[in-house]
Amino acid sequence: MFFEWVGIIVCIWIAIFFYMTLMNDCDMQLAFYEKFGKSPDSLKGKVVLITGASSGIGEHTAYALAKSGVKLALTARRQNELLRVKRKCIEVSDGLLTESDVLVIIVDILDFWEHDDILQLTLDQFGRIDIVLNNAGRSQRALFEDIDLEVDQEMFNLNVFAVVHMTRRAMEYFNERKCGHVAVVSSIAGILGIPNSASYTASKHALHGYYNCLRTEKIGTNINVTILCPGPTFTNFLQESFTGEPKEKYNICQKPTDKCMTAERCGYLIAVALANETAESWMVIPPMLTMTYLWFYFPSLFLWALNSKAGRDWIFKKRDHK
Ligand SMILES: NC(=O)c1ccc[n+]([C@@H]2O[C@H](COP(=O)([O-])OP(=O)(O)OC[C@H]3O[C@@H](n4cnc5c(N)ncnc54)[C@H](OP(=O)(O)O)[C@@H]3O)[C@@H](O)[C@H]2O)c1
Repeated sequence: MFFEWVGIIVCIWIAIFFYMTLMNDCDMQLAFYEKFGKSPDSLKGKVVLITGASSGIGEHTAYALAKSGVKLALTARRQNELLRVKRKCIEVSDGLLTESDVLVIIVDILDFWEHDDILQLTLDQFGRIDIVLNNAGRSQRALFEDIDLEVDQEMFNLNVFAVVHMTRRAMEYFNERKCGHVAVVSSIAGILGIPNSASYTASKHALHGYYNCLRTEKIGTNINVTILCPGPTFTNFLQESFTGEPKEKYNICQKPTDKCMTAERCGYLIAVALANETAESWMVIPPMLTMTYLWFYFPSLFLWALNSKAGRDWIFKKRDHK
């Protein structure tokens, strides 16, 4: 009798849990922190370095942090876009930030030898760095068989090795200071197998390997490691995506009817995750959120459910944000 009751309670709990994944746009821990945890305002006065801040998720994370009075170092290649973001950061901060509180650094993150300079310029401006947010990256659209090896290599250089190198340089500074916070914008593709994006999916999985390892090495210290996993989000990323051919861009615009989160909401959730120093956070709308939990906890059930022509069509449709 006792075990029957335990079984019934566990089933009810699982049902409620999965129902809640249909009601939220982020994982349960982050949803809890958004309501009851530290707000991004707790980061006021801190210094955050963001790579890839000239558009999309990086841009909107900068705004979310600027509203809380966080000092910012923003990096990317497009100077005009970065200056636009800087102006808007000062505007939305509503007097909390001035011209000297937002530093713009024009750099191609693939120039690995510039990574030390990025950190040094930030230190020269602010005297400290509290969080390094590695966000710059590109996605992909191509079937596995059609991908040229050069594309895999280009993708890993940008999405993995540039991030790993930047993180190692930042860790030297954080280790010396005995505190700090490194974060990376991965993707739900770092958790699930996403069709039509093999190099991208592999690059994001690789980030989880590197960052999870780093986290275990830093347990018990004042150095935090955060992996951020957005799902489909309205940004420029489809235009900029790799295909299977070297040097080619996918060059397709998202449609307003696509099922995506706004970059503004994603940036805000990232700010909440940073404020609460989460280990890993997912920001993704349903039913992709439910799907991610299913894959995470019941991978065989997930694959069984998709094992049909309809299941295959469904997952490709989801990949195209329909
Ligand atoms: N949008 C989504 O649905 C989605 C979902 C999951 C994860 N993500 C991740 O979110 C991150 C940001 O992507 P996004 O969607 O916001 O796309 P985005 O709007 O295209 O932003 C990409 C940013 O990365 C910068 N960047 C790209 N290559 C660079 C390079 N070689 N050197 C320096 N900066 C570079 C771009 O700046 P410049 O062009 O000015 O250099 C831009 O600021 C990526 O890591 C992506 O994988 C996006």
